[in-house]
Amino acid sequence: MSEPSPQIVAHRELRSSSIDRVLTGIKPTGTPHLGNYVGAIRPAILSSRLPNVESFYFLADYHALAGSADPTRVHRSTLEVAASWLALGLDPDVAHFYRQSDIPEVTELTWLLACVAPKGLLNRAHAYKAAVDQNCERGDDEDAGIEMGLYLYPVLMAADILLFNAHRVPVGKDQIQHIEIARDLAQRFNHRYGEILTLPEAQIDETTATLPGTDGRKMSKSYDNVIPLFASPKALREAIFAIVTNSQLPGEAKDPESSSLFALYQAFASADETAAMRAAYAAGIAWGEAKQRVFERIDQEIAPARARFDALMAAPEAIEAILQRGAMSLRPRAQELLKRMRDAVGLRPLTATHNSGKRSDKKAKGPRIVQYKEGAQFFFKLQDADGEVLLVGPAYAEARDAGAAIAGFLKGEMAPELQALIDAAPNRAAIEAARVALIDS
Ligand code: TRP
Repeated sequence: MSEPSPQIVAHRELRSSSIDRVLTGIKPTGTPHLGNYVGAIRPAILSSRLPNVESFYFLADYHALAGSADPTRVHRSTLEVAASWLALGLDPDVAHFYRQSDIPEVTELTWLLACVAPKGLLNRAHAYKAAVDQNCERGDDEDAGIEMGLYLYPVLMAADILLFNAHRVPVGKDQIQHIEIARDLAQRFNHRYGEILTLPEAQIDETTATLPGTDGRKMSKSYDNVIPLFASPKALREAIFAIVTNSQLPGEAKDPESSSLFALYQAFASADETAAMRAAYAAGIAWGEAKQRVFERIDQEIAPARARFDALMAAPEAIEAILQRGAMSLRPRAQELLKRMRDAVGLRPLTATHNSGKRSDKKAKGPRIVQYKEGAQFFFKLQDADGEVLLVGPAYAEARDAGAAIAGFLKGEMAPELQALIDAAPNRAAIEAARVALIDS
């Protein structure tokens, strides 16, 4: 893969001091194509390798149900999408990679958000509005055939994003409204119950190409003009040879700017290769010859991943295990956030003392670190939102040393003796969840 795009690099410099959480969902409703690869998968994998970025990539299978998808297709597509990302180099030890429906906290959060979601806001969501408009044109009842899955789609998506306090959400332009709704719901929740949720931002990468499909329009399932990512070399070649070109003859100079074949080549080639192709166009390369070069260049990039993809597709149990691990490692964090939210909205154990979780109390209850002295030694302990002790640090001779240990802990740079304690703890995931919540607050 090539260098990160300049935009990503600029962003890294901007927030170099803290962790940048990047999250995006992939709806498993079809077989990944070259447009998905160039527009989403490739930049996402590159971005996951940057320092200071924590990435969350998940299969949005709950979303796939909205619009009554065929069960066999959802199941198959989930496998294909997961295998594709892994084959293309997503490292599940570097990025969180999981399936939405393995994290039930997503649906619980959806309800909490639905309770602050103005109905009028959802009435204006593009997909719902388009369905209503269609009904009206036909003279039907405006909600005829519309299911709540479609209506609540933006709320479910807000839950995906807010559950992990994502900062940035890389999406296509068609999803911007959804991110705005997520921000809006987070703001409403925070305003009513205290500052708990992080406001996310959409990230639209103008530098990544939108790939033209075989008919010259944007490559998209809905236009039926896609080139499958892991088609056999023969099928890939055929799809590329089916790309529509004009009737210019060999020897006639051709215009790269109006050629979707050229745009496709450019999305895979280096700057030098692109320049050479531009020269070949000027020199009147035959369309057949140009197509052959495009095929060879794309195949060269895809071939190694294709072999891995085939191997993964034959081992669904390995993919399943990766997804399970991804969900397991994240659920404590999700639970930590929900604990705070439940407490804030008044869903508390009956024995809980009335906390002042009112509007005026902007700082919602979360985990905390308490420093204390026992005998001549200094300690610190980590407590969750309910005051339960998650971790007691080692003894220090000086208060200063305990303070430094806390600072190191928060930064994720534990001193060896503290690291050893954490490694041995049965509740490591809860400790990590509390640590993350603390640095967020
Ligand atoms: N709605 C997105 C799409 O159709 C998929 C999605 C679901 C998503 N949840 C998300 C994207 C959360 C970003 C963040 O492409």
